[in-house]
Amino acid sequence: MSESPTTTNNPRILIVGNAGQLGRELERIFLGVGPIVGVDRESVDLADAEQTRELVRRAAPDIILNAAAYTAVDRAESERDLAYAINEQAPRILAEEAFQRNALFVHYSTDYVFDGSKSTPWIESDAPHPLNVYGASKLAGERAVENTGGKFLIFRTSWVYGPHGNNFLLTMLRLARERDRLSIVDDQVGGPTTSIELARATHSIVTGILAGRFGAPGDWASLYHMTCRGSVSWFGFAQAIFARAAQLLATKPPALTPIATKDYPTPAARPHYSVLSNAKLQARFGIELSPWESALEEALQALRIAG
Ligand SMILES: NC(=O)c1ccc[n+]([C@@H]2O[C@H](COP(=O)([O-])OP(=O)(O)OC[C@H]3O[C@@H](n4cnc5c(N)ncnc54)[C@H](OP(=O)(O)O)[C@@H]3O)[C@@H](O)[C@H]2O)c1
Repeated sequence: MSESPTTTNNPRILIVGNAGQLGRELERIFLGVGPIVGVDRESVDLADAEQTRELVRRAAPDIILNAAAYTAVDRAESERDLAYAINEQAPRILAEEAFQRNALFVHYSTDYVFDGSKSTPWIESDAPHPLNVYGASKLAGERAVENTGGKFLIFRTSWVYGPHGNNFLLTMLRLARERDRLSIVDDQVGGPTTSIELARATHSIVTGILAGRFGAPGDWASLYHMTCRGSVSWFGFAQAIFARAAQLLATKPPALTPIATKDYPTPAARPHYSVLSNAKLQARFGIELSPWESALEEALQALRIAG
């Protein structure tokens, strides 16, 4: 590999999917690291291989942050080809283009690569076995990026939410305005993770790499789990949301009933336990994300400030 352009100051940064939950936060936190080209669906259709390749060639980045994905878990069951085009083909092309330019490629994946059969946190070397098309397409994307090699980072995360976009927190707050009672699944346990914490951790790692703190690409180019600390069921998460939203946002809390997954049928199956161990991330980069409870507090505070 030739001299690394990502050790230079002022790297050119391409953020793909900058209107998504994570993309918005990345764009905010990477301001000041270098010039940013942020793109979303309006400027590129990632299902189109040529457009995707052309995007990188035009932007000529030193760093690509890929926050775009096909994330409609249930719809993916009936849109398999589209899910694979965005979750496998697009990251493969982005990784190939990054490799050609010797650029750093940062990609994100999901806890849904696992089948949920463990009862202790999943580690990176556990065998993936996705239960749904979304998880399978994301796993295919991970493998495409790993097979391309070069300077890549894959962060597997889970239950992403934040002050913007389509997510469980905002859905709960909307439903609380519409209904007096809600039934929430209590037998799926995971690690709710804010887009804010993900962007912060990504920024800390990427700037550390730029500063030469983590050694050569061979020392860090790999797949890591990256989630907020702790775990909870969707029901427990909803309870925590309403407990704080009542105080911070004056939300009238609905009556909550815990239900089983079998009583809330969805097109896509989901793992019962998808908590990810962050031990590898901590050992390699010395960082830990906040506990999910304080990350939730921060997201609710951001909503309160936004009014
Ligand atoms: N959300 C979760 O709970 C979760 C859980 C685990 C892992 N992850 C992973 O975390 C990463 C970030 O997720 P997120 O929640 O921030 O996703 P998100 O909010 O759904 O954002 C994804 C972005 O990708 C864009 N996109 C989708 N198809 C596109 C296409 N054909 N061309 C151009 N842009 C396209 C979307 O645009 P449109 O809005 O116009 O479609 C959206 O702006 C993803 O890799 C995701 O798989 C997410």
